[in-house]
This record gives sequence, structure tokens and C-alpha cells, in this order.
Amino acid sequence: MNNRTALVTGANKGIGKDIARLLAAEGFLVYVGSRDAGRGQRAVEEIGEGARPLVLDVTNPDGIAAAARRVDRLDVLVNNAGISPSLAPPTETGADEFRRTYETNVFGVVAVTNAFLPALRRSPHPRIVNVSSGTGSLTWSTSPNPQFATGSGGAAAYRSSKAALNALTVLYAQTLAEEGFKINALAPGLRATDLNPRAAAAGGDPAEAAQGAVRLALLPDDGPTGEFFSWDGTPVPW
Ligand SMILES: NC(=O)c1ccc[n+]([C@@H]2O[C@H](COP(=O)([O-])OP(=O)(O)OC[C@H]3O[C@@H](n4cnc5c(N)ncnc54)[C@H](OP(=O)(O)O)[C@@H]3O)[C@@H](O)[C@H]2O)c1
Repeated sequence: MNNRTALVTGANKGIGKDIARLLAAEGFLVYVGSRDAGRGQRAVEEIGEGARPLVLDVTNPDGIAAAARRVDRLDVLVNNAGISPSLAPPTETGADEFRRTYETNVFGVVAVTNAFLPALRRSPHPRIVNVSSGTGSLTWSTSPNPQFATGSGGAAAYRSSKAALNALTVLYAQTLAEEGFKINALAPGLRATDLNPRAAAAGGDPAEAAQGAVRLALLPDDGPTGEFFSWDGTPVPW
């Protein structure tokens, strides 16, 4: 299909920028979502052909509505923007910290997805990729996986926000299955980005994770929906 369009939120750096770059290389016109116009423009220039800037703060309802008005048809939405402000356990995390984290990682995804639904419904093969985290897997959290050991109960706001995002992935997938949507969650693995000090110090190549997102963005019509995959395509338990 020609003229396919994609939107990646939080695409001015990190994993999101690599996802945008790879989708542009696949021939998509890619809206590079960035809450800061200058940072978005720089990423667009770096990515080159196929990239378009789109100012989008996922916590700003008016800004989201304005951005959605600029996009007529959307084939792929990658909900990638995310924050991880603290590694603290719940006992040391105030409700405001939870709210702030959920505002971006959970409510932002709902706001952006719903705002862009009309554009996605104009696509013959709509796809949504929610960039989650293996640390949001309750199964992995309760059956320790050394790859994701963040200490007992650590990063509570972030990890619970990703568990909520996983739940939303299932519910959106069920709601929109009859309309041909494929909506899945991605665990990108630990990547060297600005997200948190641990990721910056110990993470792998963000581009490797981006390939996993692109695989889910390009799923065929008989592909899975409402599932959770690691960057390498293996299933992740909820
Ligand atoms: N890195 C890892 O090890 C890892 C592991 C598991 C999951 N993830 C997930 O991967 C995704 C990308 O993270 P990353 O590692 O690439 O981190 P990153 O380099 O810090 O990138 C995060 C992106 O999200 C954007 N963002 C934050 N708040 C936003 C808002 N309100 N509106 C719009 N954009 C916003 C940031 O924009 P600014 O530049 O303006 O701040 C940035 O572009 C996140 O959802 C994260 O939870 C990452």
C-alpha cells in the first residue's frame, strides 16, 4: 500500500526516534511526535525523507486535538512517549508521583489513541503499538526474572503504569478487533536512553527495540492482537 502514514509519540529521541527512522525507511510518511518543536524538528532533519514534525505533548488535551486535526488518515500509531521519574517502591512514592507518571504513560495513551481513532479508522489495516515494559509484567514481577530485577517493589509508579498500559492494550484490542485493528504491547528490553540511569548505564541498542515495534506495526491481517511481545518477537506473560 502506498502513502502509508504513521505517528510515533515521543519520537524526538531514544527508542521512538529509531522507530520513526525505521518506519520512514519502510516508506511511511512518519509524524515525529515531540512535545518540543525544536527537538522534533532536529529529529525530523536527522531522519530525513519521509519524516514530518508534529508537536504533541501527550498530557495536553488541546494540543492533542490540534495535532489530530492535522492528520487525515493514520495507518500506524506507536504510543511510545513515556517517563520513569523514580525507582522508588510504593512506600516511598507519593500519590502525586503516581499521578504524574500515569498522566504520560497511561492517560496520555488513552487521550492520543482516542483522538487519532477517526484517522486510524480511515486506514484499511490500522495498527497500534503500545511501548510497554517487561517490568510491567505481573508474572515476571512475581517470578523473578534477573533481566528485569529492579529490586523488590522498586520503580512502583513506572511499573504499575506499564501494567495499566498492558490492561488497556487488551481492552482496546477487544473493542476494535471487529474493525480490523491489530493492537499489541511491546517490551523493548533494557535500552541505553535517557529514560533512567539504569537504562543509560546498562542498556542495549535502542534500534534493536525499534525493530520489534516495527514488526508489530507491519503485522498482517491474520496477525495477533491484544498480546504482549518482547522486542525479539517472543511472547511476554502479562
Ligand atoms: N530505555 C529502556 O530501557 C526502556 C525499557 C522498557 C520500556 N521503555 C519504554 O520505551 C519508551 C521510550 O523510552 P526511551 O527509553 O526511548 O526514553 P527517552 O529517550 O527518555 O524517550 C522518551 C520520549 O518520550 C517523550 N515524552 C516524555 N513525556 C512526554 C509527553 N508528555 N508528551 C510527549 N512526549 C513525551 C520524551 O520527550 P522529551 O525529549 O521532550 O522529554 C522522549 O521523546 C517509553 O515508553 C519507555 O517506558 C524503555
